[in-house]
Amino acid sequence: MISYKFTNRFAATVLTMAIPMVTSLAIAEVSAREAGRETGKESIGKEKYPEKVFPEEFIQAIKLEPNLENGKQLYKGCIACHGPEGWGTHSGSYPQIAGQLKSVIIKQLADFRAGNRDNPIMRAFTSQRALGGPQDIADVSGYIANLPMTTDVDKGIPLRDDNGEKLYKEMCANCHGENGEGDWEDHGPALYAQHFSYLKRQFDWIRNGRRRNADPKMTRQIKDMSIRDEVDILSYTAQLEPPKEKLAEPGWTNPDFPGINRRSLPK
Ligand code: HEC
Ligand code: HEC
Repeated sequence: MISYKFTNRFAATVLTMAIPMVTSLAIAEVSAREAGRETGKESIGKEKYPEKVFPEEFIQAIKLEPNLENGKQLYKGCIACHGPEGWGTHSGSYPQIAGQLKSVIIKQLADFRAGNRDNPIMRAFTSQRALGGPQDIADVSGYIANLPMTTDVDKGIPLRDDNGEKLYKEMCANCHGENGEGDWEDHGPALYAQHFSYLKRQFDWIRNGRRRNADPKMTRQIKDMSIRDEVDILSYTAQLEPPKEKLAEPGWTNPDFPGINRRSLPK
């Protein structure tokens, strides 16, 4: 994980300093993506989204370079609920947080802390005592974003037709990505391989105003959506597959936490 991240950054540096030296197309592609993210970071802010409220800690943490070793230490405090792999539960009590975009994780943590997102449990476990400040938020978010994902999730209903896909592409892809990969700059969460049960609960909470931190454009747009359309769209996104390089090998367990008693973890 750590060396993958390092290679990316190294490649980005090589690209800007000595473009002719870069011979591998694959490296160039990864670098371009990283470079895009860098510019993305700078444009995130109050000016670009006057309608949105950004907690101060989000604005600070998003600019910081994550220390993944510290992130791993901090993640110990998350394992009791999120598990060593961060894959969530089929019941939807816990989301798959592994592989989520770093900007999204930072935003959610800052929102829990600022009280923009109501969850007493997460509020406690993201308190000042658990995460000291923006650097800790950046570190643990970087660690989680690098965890490989599972597609063993609650997939909702079998797709009856292309209604979900059509509506998703029309109404959601703009902010959540063509394949559900999320949007770094707009911190639209990745929705692919997320538990349907979790997506449904969040969607309903965003719709009825219980979750207050959502994009106002999204809130307006989904206000009158039928349950059938909602279930079709969210089943479609739960069934979308992340690219192979984001997925864990079959049977993978997180080697960073070998001694965990798995029987005590939420199922
Ligand atoms: C005691 C259980 C518990 C602990 C410990 C815990 N969480 Fe959570 N976490 C939850 C629950 C429950 C939710 C879902 C909240 C909801 O439904 O609104 C959640 C949601 C989240 C989300 C939002 C994901 C999304 O896509 O919406 C993030 C990010 C997160 N947790 C990160 C962390 C981190 C980082 C830690 C450790 C510092 C941590 N959590 C510790 C229970 C916990
Ligand atoms: C204008 C941009 C925009 C559009 C359009 C939009 N969303 Fe969102 N959505 C967001 C953002 C931004 C968030 C995260 C809000 C936050 O920071 O908590 C979000 C959050 C969500 C979540 C919660 C995910 C999580 O991990 O917590 C779900 C589910 C969701 N959107 C589904 C949809 C669906 C389905 C559609 C189409 C019908 C849609 N959204 C359209 C921007 C958008």
